[in-house]
Amino acid sequence: MQLTADTRVPVMTSPIVGPSLNGRLSGLSDYPFTRLAALLADVTPRSNIAPLMLSIGEPQHEPPALLAQALASAPLADWGKYPPTIGTAPFRAAIHGWLCRRYGLPAGFVDVDKGILPATGTREALFQVALLATPQLKDGRQPAVLIPNPFYAVYEGAAALAGAEPVFMPATRQTGFLPDLDALAPDLLARTALMYLCTPSNPQGAVADLAYLKKAITLARAYGFVLALDECYAEIWDKAPPPGGFEAALALEHEGAGQGHAGQGTANLLVFNSLSKRSSAAGLRSGFIAGDPALIQAFTRLRSYALAGNALPAQAAAAALWNDDAHVEENRRLYRQKIDAAEAALAGRYGFYRPAGGFFLWLDVGDGEAATRRLWGEAGLRVLPGAYFTRSEPDGSNAGHSYIRVALVHDTETVARACETIARVLG
Ligand SMILES: Cc1ncc(COP(=O)(O)O)c(C=O)c1O
Repeated sequence: MQLTADTRVPVMTSPIVGPSLNGRLSGLSDYPFTRLAALLADVTPRSNIAPLMLSIGEPQHEPPALLAQALASAPLADWGKYPPTIGTAPFRAAIHGWLCRRYGLPAGFVDVDKGILPATGTREALFQVALLATPQLKDGRQPAVLIPNPFYAVYEGAAALAGAEPVFMPATRQTGFLPDLDALAPDLLARTALMYLCTPSNPQGAVADLAYLKKAITLARAYGFVLALDECYAEIWDKAPPPGGFEAALALEHEGAGQGHAGQGTANLLVFNSLSKRSSAAGLRSGFIAGDPALIQAFTRLRSYALAGNALPAQAAAAALWNDDAHVEENRRLYRQKIDAAEAALAGRYGFYRPAGGFFLWLDVGDGEAATRRLWGEAGLRVLPGAYFTRSEPDGSNAGHSYIRVALVHDTETVARACETIARVLG
């Protein structure tokens, strides 16, 4: 495993950290924001410019009033209670209700008691799933964890720290910005313990269709691995709601008598989602894991040791938010407005396209690092070079090298001005 090629800052190792964890930690690349800080350390924006952060995907829309109301009405005594690992019944019922509404699932397809767990955002749960899914050996060899490339950094860290080999699946313009599932060799699939997929994808905003999701689930069942679907951008979409993993599992269930899918329900599938993007509530740290009851049972056991859980008032507020769709519709309207503004400023340049989902622009600017430095120095706009979340090939080439990621998280006017500035600075 060669993961050090992209590391910029020497990794400190400690003699008091176990040798195997030390080795795995030092094999990791620096986190993208650490690398960004190093890239921009010697660049100072012009003095009259107020810096604007377009680098981090933290929604700046005001969270819905419902959130404050729900938190305020929680009994004070609930702050004094340890939350149960499996969450409260109203929390799980709200997730179940939303899944049924959003994906047209029959009640019980996702088991409300045995198929849903609260998470403190998807991030920690996406990390832990690698610990859950990685055996010592798979097919007699080191297990592989399949990761789209580019990718959310947590997937790589989770895979490597769980003792698996992170194996990257190219998701380039040529592959429609999603991994080509037909290109995965049977020999690799045989030792795969876990596949991460993200739809809508970060950073490209590509949406997997139902056929694609069905294929991924079919592979997971044929080769006995866990499919972790990161759907945390599922509610931020442009023209049509992205299909979800459970919709695909249900379709397989209906079609699948001859293909071994009948009676499989949500087998091999775990879906991850949160309120961070849907309700602009990243600070609430509230998400969920849902799917295969056998995996959820094992996850519950793992989390009963590893997790502190969500405060009861936070779970009550989360339930209120999952039960409400009106604020999400308004959220989508704002993101669409911003994509319109971005399109007006950037169409025809840098390979601009309207992302089908999510709120990032993935712009092909020639040299992502150079563009990032210019945008920061000349205009105070902080963006992320695409190479910082794209693994390099063994020959040193990097499919993200020519890209920057721009997060459209601010208000429409600010985003419009920022996009006009990008066009002016980069020409
Ligand atoms: C692809 C992806 N997955 C997961 C997360 C984690 O989000 P949270 O933990 O707030 O749900 C993020 C956050 O930006 C993300 O971009």
